[in-house]
Amino acid sequence: MYIVGEEEIEAVSSVIREKKLFRYQIGDQCDRFEARYAEYLGADHVGLTVSGSFALSAAMTALGLGPGDEVLIPAHTYMATATSVLTTGAIPVIVDIDESITISPQAIEDAIGPRTKAVVVVHMWGAACDMDAIMKIARKHNLFVIEDACQGVGGGYKGSKLGTIGDIGAYSFNYYKNMTCGEGGAFVTSDPRLAERAKCAIDPCHFYWNGKADGLEPFSSNGARASEIQGAMLNVQLDRIDEIISKMRDEKKRILAGTAGLGNLGLHPSPIHSPDHDCAAHVMYLMPSAQQADRFVEVFPTVIAGKTGRHTYTEWDHVLRGAGAAHPAMNPYNHPDNAACRRTYDKDMCARSLDILYRTVMVPTDPEHDDAEIEAIIHNIGVAAGVSAGEIATEDANIKQTTELDPAKFDSKSNDI
Ligand SMILES: Cc1ncc(COP(=O)(O)O)c(C=O)c1O
Repeated sequence: MYIVGEEEIEAVSSVIREKKLFRYQIGDQCDRFEARYAEYLGADHVGLTVSGSFALSAAMTALGLGPGDEVLIPAHTYMATATSVLTTGAIPVIVDIDESITISPQAIEDAIGPRTKAVVVVHMWGAACDMDAIMKIARKHNLFVIEDACQGVGGGYKGSKLGTIGDIGAYSFNYYKNMTCGEGGAFVTSDPRLAERAKCAIDPCHFYWNGKADGLEPFSSNGARASEIQGAMLNVQLDRIDEIISKMRDEKKRILAGTAGLGNLGLHPSPIHSPDHDCAAHVMYLMPSAQQADRFVEVFPTVIAGKTGRHTYTEWDHVLRGAGAAHPAMNPYNHPDNAACRRTYDKDMCARSLDILYRTVMVPTDPEHDDAEIEAIIHNIGVAAGVSAGEIATEDANIKQTTELDPAKFDSKSNDI
């Protein structure tokens, strides 16, 4: 969560005051948000739901994924990317990321097999995936592309908003995200058929409320309808998102410029695919070794990408164990149609990703950081880099030659952790 204030309180209060708490036939906040967010994204259809996890699962249901299908996912993402594949009955196949911390296009191409139907690309920590390369591979091999933009709200890739480049995308509006209503999510697509199916996945009674679209057969699903309170809060947050992102982007640019002379201490910025459209929620550095990254975070207490506790495949215990559903008969790993899919995992399977993840340190930005705090961050990164490299000499005369941290207050924990 970045900025929430009186405007959100007023928007939510008026929904309660007016007793307009249900989206269909009573209130208009969800409808308004869906229309406004679709326009903001430059896409035709947005559908609100209760979480990013459900938005992902609805997106995959809309595509018709199911038993017999493999879906490629990156080794580094929140585990809902993997579990949402399993909700459809399909099997997630885990592939490497690259230095950008996002899925490696080469790893996608190498992993494509006869059962591969789709790839979920995750704009992790708000950093865009290499979408040009990914879309080229996907079109060549006839794969669906699902964009997990849960962490990428407000960000873009070469002018298109994250989530709108593939066949269908998903966002999260949980507490930690760039735009929040505490808990919430949405899908986006410009394909009307996918939109209708995703809405049916979100609400089994969707056709009662909205009318039945021609040629579409409703199917059974769970209920995950958004509330007007979510819609009201998101309508305010949507007015804030561009300013939030632009402030984080400015801060990131300043930090990168201020630490550019620290390469000789092993501080190398991670590659960014579309820097001018980056969410910029983090400044990421790829250190020469895991030990050096460990020493860095001892001084500057931020987060190593591979050590968040839940964003790397080695931490997805139930997926690795093949516990794909609550009931064994519903478990995709047991489903006969999945017999020819790659269904086993081991903790060393993406060693290249682990190497990168244990070397990547993430310094969070914050739209509310002031100049003094940004200067303190730049200074402290210099100190931590010096200590972690075992020396304090830098090429940059502006970085103070000291091991003393600037005590200015800022939250150095990673965003979205
Ligand atoms: C990359 C990614 N995918 C999916 C999700 C799931 O979103 P939610 O927590 O809203 O269910 C998250 C949330 O943390 C996420 O970061």
